[in-house]
Amino acid sequence: MAAPLLVPSLLAGDHADLAASAAQAAAAGARWLHLDIMDGHFVPNLTFGPGVAAALRRRTTLFLDTHLMVDNPADFVEPFAQAGSDLISLHIEPACDHAAVLARIRALGKQNGLVLNPGTPVAAVEPFLGLVDLVLVMTVQPGFGGQAFRVDVLPKLETLARWRRERGLAFRLEVDGGVDLQTAPLCRAAGADTFVAGTAFFRATDRTAFRQAIEGA
Ligand code: DX5
Ligand code: ZN
Repeated sequence: MAAPLLVPSLLAGDHADLAASAAQAAAAGARWLHLDIMDGHFVPNLTFGPGVAAALRRRTTLFLDTHLMVDNPADFVEPFAQAGSDLISLHIEPACDHAAVLARIRALGKQNGLVLNPGTPVAAVEPFLGLVDLVLVMTVQPGFGGQAFRVDVLPKLETLARWRRERGLAFRLEVDGGVDLQTAPLCRAAGADTFVAGTAFFRATDRTAFRQAIEGA
């Protein structure tokens, strides 16, 4: 299992000054930054496009963990790879050739990831586990920050962590939604190693201490 990693989510940052929010993440010692890409169809909200990712790339050296919440992920892999994303994850729910898109992301020299919504069973991603660098288990229904953590999702983490161990795989196991100092330990106990936090991170009075608490440093 990879060392625990806090990943601040820019969704909870200052959308009029994203570079400043990225700098706050870096100042707290974060190494990754989570970028939520929403299309208004797959989820009922809109956020950032490849142009924003490219602009951020010029202002931060953080690893850009790019979470595509779009109906047509295949169309956005190349634009975000060109923009400078380091990891691109797509949901399992939209109809597409997931194996081909995952392979394309790696062919572009990027890490890839596969994401499941709270209502999607782990069996949906099982055939792809040997093809991914990261599995993201949503711990809220995606679309908005600041939602309550879904404790019913924990068994899915346990199953994925067990499959990872039994099969000798090394993908990161990421959680996203409602992650804070109370819920992160539950996720970690269930096998997660990569913790996206938006609201809890940006609202923390001491962001470095928040990161250290999540990462167990
Ligand atoms: C939700 C997004 C999350 C969001 C989490 O759709 O995928 O990345 O930023 O926000 P918090 O940490 O506020 O629940
Ligand atoms: Zn996200």
